[in-house]
Amino acid sequence: MTANIIDGKAFALGLRERIATQVATFREATGRVPGLAVVLVGEDPASAVYVRNKHKATVAAGMASFEHKLSAHTSQADLLALVDQLNADPAVDGILVQLPLPGHIDERAVITRIDPDKDVDGFHPVNAGRLATGLEGFVPCTPLGCLMLLKDQLGDLAGLDAVVIGRSNIVGKPMAQLLVKESCTVTVAHSKTRDLSSVVKRADIVVAAVGRPEMVKGEWIKPGACVIDVGINREPAQPGGSNGRLVGDVDFAGALSVAGAITPVPGGVGPMTIAVLLRNTMISAHRREDVSYDKDAW
Ligand code: GUN
Repeated sequence: MTANIIDGKAFALGLRERIATQVATFREATGRVPGLAVVLVGEDPASAVYVRNKHKATVAAGMASFEHKLSAHTSQADLLALVDQLNADPAVDGILVQLPLPGHIDERAVITRIDPDKDVDGFHPVNAGRLATGLEGFVPCTPLGCLMLLKDQLGDLAGLDAVVIGRSNIVGKPMAQLLVKESCTVTVAHSKTRDLSSVVKRADIVVAAVGRPEMVKGEWIKPGACVIDVGINREPAQPGGSNGRLVGDVDFAGALSVAGAITPVPGGVGPMTIAVLLRNTMISAHRREDVSYDKDAW
């Protein structure tokens, strides 16, 4: 068997096109466009690339992008004051503070300062609680993007065995919640899990989000399983000076001959995150203007 390679890039592009159409309709109905504020503190090169890509995608969708680039020495008090200002700004529907923050700033204090109803990252504990208890709220972008790919591939997920490898607040835990909501039988595996290969072997759905290059081996995969690889790991630079290749948390070549479907790295889960961020911002704008929006139609 050769697995179907899931084209996250194409799926995300389609989603972004539909969002752009919805932005135009929203603008006609309300006289304004949805607005996303992104805050970057410091000069981390990877974060700068992410923020630039978010800005470009926001503008391409016809939304307003408010970028705030602050020095690495910004005090926590100044950052919190900016969050307060964005919370109060009626043109801002979504607020994203790019992580990681410099070491002298308490990330939790910043995340909890964001108005939960503008928290398009879905990181605020209020939104985590809403997801866990089945209330309407914002769902973190990467796991929601993974769920979209899974449902597009498999349709109804009810009754399937799923394993999520990784228990972060950003991916692993919300991913597990989403799969429980879809009536999967969910195992959350992590660094202390015993006999991980056997746990993975019985899963119809594998979501790998551990941040360890090619840790999940092809022979661990149940034949026909759907494999979602959230990992983005850069291999060491080549002797000639060129950048190392990007690899996921799954041994892609090994899994390809066993799985039913698998996301590549790059071009799988990665492009979904920004598309879902735009969608969350769009939903926020609709809620704040009391305009109806079908959140189950992707
Ligand atoms: N850093 C890496 N990914 C993310 C993300 O999805 N949201 C935020 N706020 N920071 C990140």
